[in-house]
Amino acid sequence: MISRWRLRERLEEEIQLFETTHPNARALFEQAQKSLLDGVPMNWMVKWAGGFPVFVTSGQGSRFSDVDGRDYIDFCLGDTGSMTGHGPEALIEAVSARVHEGTTFMLPTEDAIWVGEELQRRFHLRYWQMALTATDANRFAIRLARHITGRPKILVFNCCYHGTVDESFITLTPEGPKARSGNLGPPVDPAVTTKVVEFNDVAALREALEPQDVACVLAEPVMTNIGIVHPEAGFHQMLRELTQETGTLLIIDETHTLCAGPGGYSGLHHLKPDFLTVGKAIAGGIPGAVYGFSEAVAKKIREKSSLADADTGGIGGTLAGNALSLAAIRATLGYVLTPEVYQHTDRIAERFLQGIREAIEEFQVPWNVTRLGSRVEYWFRPVPARNGTEAALAVDPELDRYMHLYSLNRGILMTPFHNMALMAPTTSESDVDTHTEVFRSALSSLLD
Ligand SMILES: Cc1ncc(COP(=O)(O)O)c(C=O)c1O
Repeated sequence: MISRWRLRERLEEEIQLFETTHPNARALFEQAQKSLLDGVPMNWMVKWAGGFPVFVTSGQGSRFSDVDGRDYIDFCLGDTGSMTGHGPEALIEAVSARVHEGTTFMLPTEDAIWVGEELQRRFHLRYWQMALTATDANRFAIRLARHITGRPKILVFNCCYHGTVDESFITLTPEGPKARSGNLGPPVDPAVTTKVVEFNDVAALREALEPQDVACVLAEPVMTNIGIVHPEAGFHQMLRELTQETGTLLIIDETHTLCAGPGGYSGLHHLKPDFLTVGKAIAGGIPGAVYGFSEAVAKKIREKSSLADADTGGIGGTLAGNALSLAAIRATLGYVLTPEVYQHTDRIAERFLQGIREAIEEFQVPWNVTRLGSRVEYWFRPVPARNGTEAALAVDPELDRYMHLYSLNRGILMTPFHNMALMAPTTSESDVDTHTEVFRSALSSLLD
């Protein structure tokens, strides 16, 4: 067992080490307090394990450097936005050319057609539209689902994350569904707009959909934001059957699960959603997102909407579908996130998983490790969680912070707020083995 006293003592040592080895980052952080709220351009950036963030100078492939002259292996990869690795050659070329030729026109470029056809091929949905972020893609899909079904509610799974989508900030509590803590200034209490059930709970899903007041289920096919929670055998089939029986549309959010294969988890397991959304990595880190829908959905959209209202209908964004994003998506899908690359990242992720698994067994800590394609995560419970509540109960912020900081101080960046690692096309066996060594030494420091 890990002693809390030892954990706190070791954590204090790591915080000190971080402070003494990052003087330039600290100075920039202090300067930034004068113009940026909390000293960062986006307020969660202050939540990094060291107490202040590393300030980046440049990144290439699966590595980056900071203002203190330190180098890191990047397993965070912008929490998926840079799943392609930083600055793949094809992306640099396409984006540089586009910048020289104009980035946004409110008019299509030919890249849009290439992208639409490639998305059809990968995800088997007929029609596609663009947005700038995965949050927006989800919001637009929800709006369309409400519009064409005429139903008021949506349904999400407990402890999900789909971006800053108002309706999704709901959680199950012993007293019933409530807004998640930290839900700032909600336009409406999410308990009014949203039903929430546990992932893998078919009976609860059936009961929630039965009244036929739910426009759509918004789901990751595998939960990834409360650790990796895999669907149980038959769950997706039941999800599809129950949604179809009750006239509920199914939106599958592949933003993170694009790590499972070129067509995401849906492509790999032949899921047939009504809508599919993807953001982040799809444009190699340039803002860009897409949402697709079936022929039947497109027919209803056409029947129920008028072109006259298209620019004020709550779905839009002047920059959506801009030429730069489309050039970036084309380069990413055409040359970077190719089937061959997935073979490499799957293999390297399995090596990452095995390294952790062997250390967990050797040091006999009650943790488990799971993988989804090129994404690996260890969690502080002996067996993988079946749902959001089980996963959330195992969250241990102090231990989490220690594992992060110990790794960061030794040149390894993990995804913040959980223990997740993502492999890029450029991640090497030696990067993985370096992580395994550091992971073993972190465990040993807590147990010796
Ligand atoms: C599954 C999923 N969907 C959507 C989003 C939103 O992405 P963005 O913040 O780029 O809008 C996230 C962000 O983490 C996500 O994990």
